[in-house]
Amino acid sequence: MSTDARPKAGLEDVVAGTSAICFIDGDRGILAYQGYDIHELADAERGVSFEECCFLLWHGRLPRRAELGDLQTQLAAARRLPDPILRAMRMLPAVDGMDALRTLTSMLAHYDADAAARTPEAQVRKAIRLTGQIGAIVATWGRLAAGGGPIDPDPALGHAANFLYMLTGRRPSALEARAFDVSLVLHADHELNASTFAARVAAATLTDLHSAIVGAIGALKGPLHGGANADVMRLLLEIGRDAGPERAEAAVRAKLARKEKIAGFGHRVYHTEDPRATHLRRFSKMLGERAGQPEWFAMSERIEALVKAEKRLNPNVDFYSASTFYALGIPIDLYTPIFAVSRISGWTAHVLEQYANNRLIRPRTEYIGPAYPQHVLALDQR
Ligand SMILES: CC(C)(COP(=O)(O)OP(=O)(O)OC[C@H]1O[C@@H](n2cnc3c(N)ncnc32)[C@H](O)[C@@H]1OP(=O)(O)O)[C@@H](O)C(=O)NCCC(=O)NCCS
Repeated sequence: MSTDARPKAGLEDVVAGTSAICFIDGDRGILAYQGYDIHELADAERGVSFEECCFLLWHGRLPRRAELGDLQTQLAAARRLPDPILRAMRMLPAVDGMDALRTLTSMLAHYDADAAARTPEAQVRKAIRLTGQIGAIVATWGRLAAGGGPIDPDPALGHAANFLYMLTGRRPSALEARAFDVSLVLHADHELNASTFAARVAAATLTDLHSAIVGAIGALKGPLHGGANADVMRLLLEIGRDAGPERAEAAVRAKLARKEKIAGFGHRVYHTEDPRATHLRRFSKMLGERAGQPEWFAMSERIEALVKAEKRLNPNVDFYSASTFYALGIPIDLYTPIFAVSRISGWTAHVLEQYANNRLIRPRTEYIGPAYPQHVLALDQR
């Protein structure tokens, strides 16, 4: 490979395939699923539910009423976890929520009647089941970690409201449910992000859907990807709610002086405001005020202004989702697993698309190691 053909580190700007699922224009701050602008999908009053969003990603169009009803029924059934999964959850040591989710998602394959089935219909059934199950696993995991007992899903509730109910034991208000629903819509897909790429690479070997998703969960866990939202809230807590915006600014200024990265800022693709942050900023403010904790938003706003001024970096999806989730009473260890509760829809959509028109993904590297050929010396001569 010649030097000028060398891709930028991290495959920046490399177009590695075609997809009909998600469109991003990083210069104009546009994100669209199947052509629908995220601002329309995520509109608090007129937007879609997470279930409608899932259907859109999997089928390329919005569902009709009866189709949505069917999907809701199937998701509700999937939220009732197999007993061995519930037992395994109790047996796992007190590990990170993403580690637990990775292990339990892998286990789900053993109890899925369609695990080895390869028809498109079976793949969609598995996508629906995994979406229902991952939500239930994360909520139940959070419940157990807080010392409570598992709560049975309520089939009358939508996916977002049911998640909050299974996590807290309390039926959420309409505002809480819609805020969480919108968060799920906002996180549902994001083109060829690291975890989706991992899922597609695995799927392209024609491995099973569960294996591809386990790979994606592993990739999402990293602090440069889904792990950033928890880091944002840890930073805010470390500064302290009573410290005020000035102290928040000073703490972040000190971090920048030490050349540390500030979690929740910057993006490989967006060079302008991440359109998802626009909605989460609003929810962070609104829910923080309702929860009687407006300080987190005030601190976040000040940090945003500083990082913009000093580094010309915008907040990404993780920055305001942190304080939004916090105001919803969600424990920090669940923030990244919750990313997966939503992104399972996008991962599975991409895997289905990959299966439908597959070719093995097997790129090359440019070799930069020792000159060829090296010769093996006997052990005592090395
Ligand atoms: C998202 C992210 C991984 C994109 O990375 P990338 O495209 O590889 O960009 P780089 O890490 O090469 O950063 C480019 C420059 O911006 C700086 N930068 C990027 N993100 C930064 C941040 N969050 N805080 C401070 N500086 C940052 C880098 O230090 C680098 O500066 P330099 O050129 O002077 O060395 C990166 O912005 C980041 O680590 N953000 C924090 C983690 C995060 O929020 N992740 C969630 C993403 S949705």
